[in-house]
Amino acid sequence: MFRKAIYPGSFDPATLGHLDMIERASGIFDEVVVGVGINRAKRGLLLPEERVEALAAATARLENVTVAGFDGLLVDFVRERGSHCIVRGLRATADFEYEFQMAMVNRRLAAEVETVFLMTSWEHSYLSSTLVREVALLGGDVGGMVPRETLPFLLRAVARRREETRDGSQ
Ligand code: PNS
Repeated sequence: MFRKAIYPGSFDPATLGHLDMIERASGIFDEVVVGVGINRAKRGLLLPEERVEALAAATARLENVTVAGFDGLLVDFVRERGSHCIVRGLRATADFEYEFQMAMVNRRLAAEVETVFLMTSWEHSYLSSTLVREVALLGGDVGGMVPRETLPFLLRAVARRREETRDGSQ
């Protein structure tokens, strides 16, 4: 029985598509843990703790959802949390190859951990963190792309990046 699911991702930043996934998963599972994967080798736009905080704010109204950062292997985090189910969202055929590969590797590492895929809603199927980052860094309006509670974290991270770039170029 899958009572507790782990929904992992980089969430740099979380988009409305991610929030849609979390809402869907929270309606299916008793408990959902959103796992923010921390890759110290990869410099993101938002700091890992900002991603956790931004997601916690966006999901505060969902009683069976918690947010936590993890580094290391996803399957270790899944086991530590006493789960054996990973939830991932699928947007389009473009996602499939990467997702299939990841699910296969995770199964190889932990045979008892199952990956479950949920389809994103129609209106969010075009959204990605990469595009949101690009638009935000170029000064575009990302208001309708990220959860309302996430926006201040994103804008702060953009301002910080701009400052770093300016300082670096002086
Ligand atoms: O939102 P993303 O960037 O597609 O999320 C990717 C994430 C964080 C789920 C993935 O990179 C991950 O699981 N990282 C942890 C390291 C790991 O377990 N790697 C092997 C599984 S492929």
